[in-house]
Amino acid sequence: MEIVTSPREMQTKAEEFRRKKLSLGLVPTMGYFHEGHLSLIRRARADCDVVVVSLFVNPTQFGAGEDFERYPRDIERDERLATAEGVDVMFAPEATDMYAEGYTTYVDVERLTEVLCGARRPGHFRGVATVVAKLLNICRPEVAYFGRKDYQQAQVIKRLAADLNYGVKIEVLPIVREADGLAMSSRNSYLSPEERRQATCLYRALARAQALFAEGERRPAKFLDEMAAVAKAEPAAEIDYIEIVHPLELTPVPKVEAGSVAALAAFINKTRLIDNTIIGEEDLKVGARPC
Ligand code: PAF
Repeated sequence: MEIVTSPREMQTKAEEFRRKKLSLGLVPTMGYFHEGHLSLIRRARADCDVVVVSLFVNPTQFGAGEDFERYPRDIERDERLATAEGVDVMFAPEATDMYAEGYTTYVDVERLTEVLCGARRPGHFRGVATVVAKLLNICRPEVAYFGRKDYQQAQVIKRLAADLNYGVKIEVLPIVREADGLAMSSRNSYLSPEERRQATCLYRALARAQALFAEGERRPAKFLDEMAAVAKAEPAAEIDYIEIVHPLELTPVPKVEAGSVAALAAFINKTRLIDNTIIGEEDLKVGARPC
């Protein structure tokens, strides 16, 4: 596996791959790999001639007082895992190369970014959209792979790719869960063993939503109440939001239907976690093998 740090060098390489008619799959990440990342890499490996994984903890998507400084990093382990998965190129730029002095250009996706996490983390999706636009320009992929745990992020990126005519296919792959249902996330590493136990309340709240739907319940208020009751039963959990939204518009639904998305964010003491489920789908499967 080759490691490239310069955006210009990465772009030259990507252009070479294009000239040779090799399909390029990009897996954008902030590193500290878990099975969720590896599932994206494996899919890219199966689909494409060349797999590029970007590893960049993007400062512009973190707000003041958020966890940019302490975001977990272990580039050597990430390199080993990526090599073992057959990644061709790891693109790991420095912040000063991505945002050189005098940098003033940002990408704003309207509407979809104003709800859910976007309403609670001002500027977050502007940072995500900006860095993803840059990564697409630098790596020129045919396909880019994202995890569905960040449901809103995936919708924002699909919108961005369509609106700005990137001509890239955006693949969104299922959430990978631990044996007890907790969605895999690099931020799970912040949790103490007791917080880790309580953090499964996000998954259990989503499972309650699926059960209500299977029982024939369709009133959003009933879903929100019951999901909140599950989360609130854990003393370390503080709900940031719980919503049932339209899968594309991300606006609250008047009636819960198959395909509506139950999404929630909660603090487990200081750690903010997110999770979601598509109502009526069997997407709460558990038991991934740890990496
Ligand atoms: O999902 C992530 O890890 C990040 O938000 C992304 C898409 C790599 C952009 O920094």
